[in-house]
Amino acid sequence: MRNDIERVLIDEAVIGKRLDAMAQDIERDFPRGTLVVIILLKGALVFAADLLRRVPRVLEIETLNVASYHGGTESTGKVDFPDRHFPEVKGRHVLLLDDILDTGRTLHAVTQRLIDEGAVAVHTAVLLAKDKIRAEEVAADYVGFQIDDEFVVGYGLDYQGLYRNLPYVGVLKPSVVH
Ligand code: XMP
Repeated sequence: MRNDIERVLIDEAVIGKRLDAMAQDIERDFPRGTLVVIILLKGALVFAADLLRRVPRVLEIETLNVASYHGGTESTGKVDFPDRHFPEVKGRHVLLLDDILDTGRTLHAVTQRLIDEGAVAVHTAVLLAKDKIRAEEVAADYVGFQIDDEFVVGYGLDYQGLYRNLPYVGVLKPSVVH
């Protein structure tokens, strides 16, 4: 797997330190009480597992499938909700976790849906935010790292379903991308 990576962008230790700080910010900012956390699958799985174990409060954890990429390296522009069940968020404070903020379409669409479902407040946390002009005007409340506008894998992020288990964020060799 390491042979397919051209460059390590953010290594494991650096991610861990940043997650310590993000978890403290989240713990400080949210009102007392049980918080509902929604993890966007599959990309935010690794980020969420490592971040949420650092947050010392009672959390209710839900997952949500959102399809916007469909396997390639370019966004298709359409956000689908393929799950039949949508998390119960009426009257709740929600923390939404995603792996990366790119065009902004995913966070925009999911936030809107959560508000439509009756959430009191929706805050968002992403591991990565690409430095670019977004298709939707949306900013995450908690950002792990700002990165250049390039395709990355690892730490939950995939290329055609692969590389999610890389323990760091990296850039693939051009020879691996087709
Ligand atoms: P939008 O464009 O809706 O994108 O903000 C969010 C989703 O797009 C995927 N995405 C990536 N996946 N490497 C990936 O593996 C990338 O560089 C990348 N950029 C966007 C990802 O699923 C994210 O949730």
